[in-house]
Amino acid sequence: KIENSLRPKLLKDYIGQTKAKSNLKIYIEAAKQRKESLDHVLFYGPPGLGKTTLAGIIANEMDVNMKITSGPAIEKPGEMAAILNNLQEGDLLFVDEIHRLNRQVEEVLYPAMEDFAIDIVIGKGASARSIRLDLPKFTLVGATTRAGMLTAPLRDRFGVVNRLEFYTTEELKEIIIRSAGLFKVYIDEQGAGEIARRSRGTPRLANRLLKRVRDFAQVKYDGKITEEVAKFALDLLEVDKLGLDNIDRDILVTMIEKFSGGPVGLDTIAAAIGEDSGTIEDVYEPYLIQNGLIMRTPRGRVVTDITYKHFGLIQP
Ligand code: ADE
Repeated sequence: KIENSLRPKLLKDYIGQTKAKSNLKIYIEAAKQRKESLDHVLFYGPPGLGKTTLAGIIANEMDVNMKITSGPAIEKPGEMAAILNNLQEGDLLFVDEIHRLNRQVEEVLYPAMEDFAIDIVIGKGASARSIRLDLPKFTLVGATTRAGMLTAPLRDRFGVVNRLEFYTTEELKEIIIRSAGLFKVYIDEQGAGEIARRSRGTPRLANRLLKRVRDFAQVKYDGKITEEVAKFALDLLEVDKLGLDNIDRDILVTMIEKFSGGPVGLDTIAAAIGEDSGTIEDVYEPYLIQNGLIMRTPRGRVVTDITYKHFGLIQP
C-alpha cells in the first residue's frame, strides 16, 4: 500500500525520464483528441526505473482500466487468449517481463496487437480449422529489462518504444523529498542528497533506503533526516559511497581477486559468487557499466582503474 502511494498517478508528478515523459505526453494527448486507444508501448531498461509506474500513469491519463500480468505467469496460448478476450474497450494490458513469454503464447499476441483479433483453432488434424475472434481495441504496455531478448515480430508491433535511463542525483533527490513529504517525515537537502547519491540511479532503491533511514532517524535520533543521520544509517546498511551493495562489491572483488580483474565471462563470475547470470546482467551490471566500474570486451568483463580506486587498491 505504501509502496503504491509513493507512485505518482499523473505525468506531471513524475520526476525524471524527461524524454519518455515528453513523448508520452504528446501521444496520450493525440490519442485522446482522436478518441482512440493509445498505440502499444514498450518500456525497457534496468529494474526499478519506473516501467510499472509509467504504465499506471498512462492508464490514469487515458482514463482506462489497467490489467496486469507477466511473461512467466502465462504458460499456455489459451490463457493469453482468455486474458485478451476479457478486456474491455480501451483497457490497458500491462505485461511485465514480456521477454519471458514463450513462443506459442507470444504468437497469440501478434494478431491481437496488429488487428485486435485472435485466431482460435478448433478440432485436430485434418479437420482442424481456425476461427477469428474480434477483440476490443486495447493498449498493450510491455516491460522488459532486456529489449535485445524480444523477438523481432513482437518488438516491431510496438508503436512506441521507450528506453528508461538511470536517474541523476538531482532527480533522485527530488523524488526522495517528494516521498518524505508523503511520509510526513522531515528531511533536509543534504540528507536527501546523501540518500540520492547512494541510490544507484534507481527510484525504487531511493524509496527503500529512505524508509530505512527514516527508521534510524526515528529510533536513534530526533526523527529528522539530516546528512549525519543518512550517513550513519546507510553505512550500517552497507550501502557504500557509490550506492554499491554487497552483491555489487562481491562481483567486483571476485573479478579482482580470483580473475586478476578480467577479462572473465559472465557465467564464470556468476558461478564464482553463486548468483544467476541473468540477474547479474540485468540488475547489477548496467549500473556498474554506466559508472565505469566494469567494461565489456569481446573476451569478457574487465574491471577498470575506477574499480581499483574505489576499493583503495593499486591497479597491478
Ligand atoms: N516515485 C518513484 N518513482 C518516481 C518518479 N519517477 N517520480 C516521482 N515519484 C516517484
